[in-house]
Amino acid sequence: MAAKRAQWGSKLGFILAAAGSAVGLGNVWKFPYVTGQNGGGAFVLLYLLAIVLVGLPIMMGEILIGRMAQKSTVSAFRSLAPKSAWPLVGWLGVIAGMIILSYYSVVAGWSLHYIYLSLSGAIGGADPEAVKELFGGLYVDTTANLGWHAVFMVVTAVIVIGGVQQGVERAATFLMPALFLMMTAMLVYAMTLPGFGEAVDFIFGVRFDQVTGATVLEALGQSFFTLSLGMGAMLTYGSYLSKQDDLVTSALSISALDTAVALMASLVLFPITFSYGIDPADGPGLVFQNMPAAFAQLPGGALWSTAFFLLLSFAALTSSISLLEVVAAYFIDERGWTRRQAVIVLGAFIFVLGVPSALSGGSQAFGAGFKDLTAPVFAIVGKEGMNWFDTFDYIASNMLLPLGGLGIALFSAWRMGERARRAEIAAGSTLGKIEALYLAWLQLLRYLVPLAIVTVMLYALGIFKLLGLI
Ligand code: PFF
Repeated sequence: MAAKRAQWGSKLGFILAAAGSAVGLGNVWKFPYVTGQNGGGAFVLLYLLAIVLVGLPIMMGEILIGRMAQKSTVSAFRSLAPKSAWPLVGWLGVIAGMIILSYYSVVAGWSLHYIYLSLSGAIGGADPEAVKELFGGLYVDTTANLGWHAVFMVVTAVIVIGGVQQGVERAATFLMPALFLMMTAMLVYAMTLPGFGEAVDFIFGVRFDQVTGATVLEALGQSFFTLSLGMGAMLTYGSYLSKQDDLVTSALSISALDTAVALMASLVLFPITFSYGIDPADGPGLVFQNMPAAFAQLPGGALWSTAFFLLLSFAALTSSISLLEVVAAYFIDERGWTRRQAVIVLGAFIFVLGVPSALSGGSQAFGAGFKDLTAPVFAIVGKEGMNWFDTFDYIASNMLLPLGGLGIALFSAWRMGERARRAEIAAGSTLGKIEALYLAWLQLLRYLVPLAIVTVMLYALGIFKLLGLI
């Protein structure tokens, strides 16, 4: 009676869509600045280890649950573990998806604003110091923040209404190669800059004296966010995958593509940063302040700037699509809503949920006032107060995603039956049939992964700081 469930048009379509989810603001905006703040090479090495030892095993587990159940996140747990508390893991993901998308859309909106600024001639050829100040102006501009947030949500919703093959897959099939092309072009340019050598040394020169407990844990946290793990995005995308498709090489390709884009973004950003004498530890402003400032001094800067922020917006869009898809799929699969109905209602709800984030720079109540309000709470974990935007990011990245990842690891490695798990991994996969690889994956997922996640969470809650360990 149920309509035939949607599937990806091809395995490549799945990989591009899933890589599109993984590759986003986390790679182009967050990875370079977190690398900068953590002193470079050592952080990058730890991040790569986290991707291979923690991220990759979870990604396989997440896609496996989705493909086995052929259902979106809450329904998947319900059907694989009836009458249990496991669907809570799915619920957590739906809530995390709403929260992340609400502020993700605001940052993506900044990127749209910079396309507009580039096209309007405010960047190319302008005074670099004045260009740097543009971000401060945007940050407190309530109308611009709300407007671009609305535009980005509408674009995301229109694509998700298109559905799995028509919308998500088609968008990713076009956007992902476009992104790679642009990245490659910018990388070639970055290689000609005088700061390229210094940048390569910064990114790949491992200086272990820089490593602290906090560096290790931050690298691990970044690996979750960047691979879209722990909230059922990979699970939901995996549910549209057929049994003939190779789950193991898919997870490998997605992680490799994601890591490649993060490294490419750094290799583009840092040469510019060094060539123009900017501090790599500048923080979140690295992309929105320093890149345009550098573009301002370049011949053809307006064009480069437009290309760069188009790229960032594309990357954000293929991620926001997956965030909205997780949330919408729950209401479609569990509540019987039509796709259009689900996307419109939830898109509107998430837009409203994001309004305080959009206002965090320009409003006292959600900005400085909220910071004061939360100060006593964050003081418990040894942090300063945060505005609404930062509070949402903190809760989602440091609590909800790790908790979801833990649930997914425990479910696939401990709760799922051995025969079913083995058969699912092996279906359509040559690597999945190799006993030693299967066992290595399972052991990682059973022991190292839960241990690593619990460590991250304790860190995020400030327990180590409380105990005086870091
Ligand atoms: N992976 C995305 C990024 O790096 O920007 C963010 C993200 C997307 C996280 C989807 C979680 C998710 F489900």
